[in-house]
Amino acid sequence: MSSKRKLTPYELNQLYKWTPQADVSQIGDKPIEYVTGHTEFCGLDFLVTQDTLIPRIESEQIVTTALQFIEDKNLTHPTIADIGTGSGCLGVSLAYKLSKMRLPYTIYLSDISLKALKVADLNAQRLLHSPENIFFQESNLLESFPKIKFDIIIANLPYIPTKNIDNLDSSVQDYEPKNALDGGPKGNLFINALLDKLPTFLHKNGIALFEIDDTHTIDSFTLPKSLKTTITNDCFNKPRFLSVSYNY
Ligand SMILES: C[S@@+](CC[C@H](N)C(=O)[O-])C[C@H]1O[C@@H](n2cnc3c(N)ncnc32)[C@H](O)[C@@H]1O
Repeated sequence: MSSKRKLTPYELNQLYKWTPQADVSQIGDKPIEYVTGHTEFCGLDFLVTQDTLIPRIESEQIVTTALQFIEDKNLTHPTIADIGTGSGCLGVSLAYKLSKMRLPYTIYLSDISLKALKVADLNAQRLLHSPENIFFQESNLLESFPKIKFDIIIANLPYIPTKNIDNLDSSVQDYEPKNALDGGPKGNLFINALLDKLPTFLHKNGIALFEIDDTHTIDSFTLPKSLKTTITNDCFNKPRFLSVSYNY
């Protein structure tokens, strides 16, 4: 089999750095991150496997928004849940930045996929000095969580409407985990299910930050009465984040 695409200088660089022995002619459409097993997120080196989504640069904004919220609210020991953590990129980056600020934290990293959660665990072990503040929870959304309230809930859950999955590039469709992509008929299935549980799990002064599809609008989501939302754009100027807080 010959390579279907010409590798970019970045891809060649990554191959040379991590897997110089890789046979370039066998790579085809496979994302370079799955060949090398590494990717960068928030300036950190994360391990990825085909059980985890390759973190996207847009998602870094969730980490910066959460950090800003912690600073604005003067939180001295934030409790955070990262739902659908995949490689752990959001929660582990946040933990890394908080430890650099010498701020204590408690973070739950959660996924329905045990295989993904194991990769998140590895990343926490590699990148954090004190991973004892991190809890790993295999769970369908918040179903298996202890009954605690969080200051911050972050969630990059599957949000692509099912009918659009077939239009994704082969590098995504054929290699990234389906259970990380398909958000049901309108792409809002998991987000709405999690929104419904926020009154139980989100602290009164807390915030929930979701990544959403760029076709979504406020009307795509069903909100419990007590909550209000805003949608903000990503670094490519597309609607991408839903932030949710209490209505007072
Ligand atoms: C779009 S990926 C995001 C991964 C990572 N947070 C990131 O930003 O790169 C969605 C993740 O949600 C997980 N997931 C899918 N359905 C879930 C559910 N019902 N409960 C918890 N996690 C779920 C998938 O296994 C996958 O790891």
